[in-house]
Amino acid sequence: MKKTKILLIGAGGQLGAELTQGLWKIYGQENVIASDIKDAQGVLKDGPYEKFDVMQRDKLFELLKKKEITQVYHLAALLSATGEKDPRWAWKLNMESLLFVLEAAQELKLHKVYWPSSIAVFGPTSPKQNCPQQTIIEPTTVYGISKYAGEFWCNYFFQRYGVDVRSLRYPGLISYKSSPGGGTTDYAVEIFHEALEEKKYESFLNPDTYLPMMYMPDAIRATIELMEAPANKISVRTSYNISGMSFSPKEIAAEIKKFIPEFEISYKPDYRQKIADSWPQSIDDSKARSDWGWKQEFDLPKMTRDMFENL
Ligand SMILES: NC(=O)c1ccc[n+]([C@@H]2O[C@H](COP(=O)([O-])OP(=O)(O)OC[C@H]3O[C@@H](n4cnc5c(N)ncnc54)[C@H](O)[C@@H]3O)[C@@H](O)[C@H]2O)c1
Repeated sequence: MKKTKILLIGAGGQLGAELTQGLWKIYGQENVIASDIKDAQGVLKDGPYEKFDVMQRDKLFELLKKKEITQVYHLAALLSATGEKDPRWAWKLNMESLLFVLEAAQELKLHKVYWPSSIAVFGPTSPKQNCPQQTIIEPTTVYGISKYAGEFWCNYFFQRYGVDVRSLRYPGLISYKSSPGGGTTDYAVEIFHEALEEKKYESFLNPDTYLPMMYMPDAIRATIELMEAPANKISVRTSYNISGMSFSPKEIAAEIKKFIPEFEISYKPDYRQKIADSWPQSIDDSKARSDWGWKQEFDLPKMTRDMFENL
């Protein structure tokens, strides 16, 4: 068996920098290469880095061979809100790049691939509360359509070619280290920064818009636990539902007020309200729990305390 050598694609985004650091700790910095279409920023300057565009299929294959990569974490995508501004490009980037990675995994016999899906696969006809793993799935955003199609491509490459590809349907991710990349749940990160700087925040979602969310340390741990689990524990080869917490702008504002009493929130919903309204409010992740032992650590109060301790 070849030594584990990891390539992260789209590592310069909200998830990637923290996931890269998590993988450094397990596999050593020299064995984890971060890559992105952008120049290296922040902590990524400290480790191995390749600036490259995943849409260049030949370059991808060349890099995988040259660096003797055995695992790929493919994170590059256009997210829910930015995807709506350029649906054709969102479809092309999200779909083609995944197919390039899956084809490379098959041809070059990579050991494992990680590719994130999203709660955006669910649509207005999916159950709003405790949305199950298998249910009606009729996404209405191009992002959701691309993630759902991507899930089936992952399953196809596993069933047909034995590619060990694994996936999680992340909820909105909240972190203090990196900025969000154009999703509908971005408000839950912005609100902390503006609470500290301005003591006020104008929410682009209505006060009672409940959405599934997850604190970044939980998301990183879930990703690594899924990837470290024995293959025979992975019964879902599309993508696992995964849950952290669920709250509304009104609830997070009340939590923030406990730390900054003068904080005020106002509401001016925009086009993202419609996207949020199409998604479930909470997620049933019992399959991830029973298959590979997932358990979240952070709820809203614990996350809020940790955010203010670190920001
Ligand atoms: N952040 C969330 O709340 C969330 C929720 C659900 C799923 N996800 C999924 O997790 C993954 C990472 O999300 P994120 O929040 O870090 O996104 P992000 O937008 O912050 O980062 C994506 C990165 O991909 C890079 N990229 C774009 N086009 C590229 C290309 N052609 N070649 C190489 N790199 C390219 C960007 O420069 C960016 O650094 C995505 O697949 C996203 O769909 C994120």
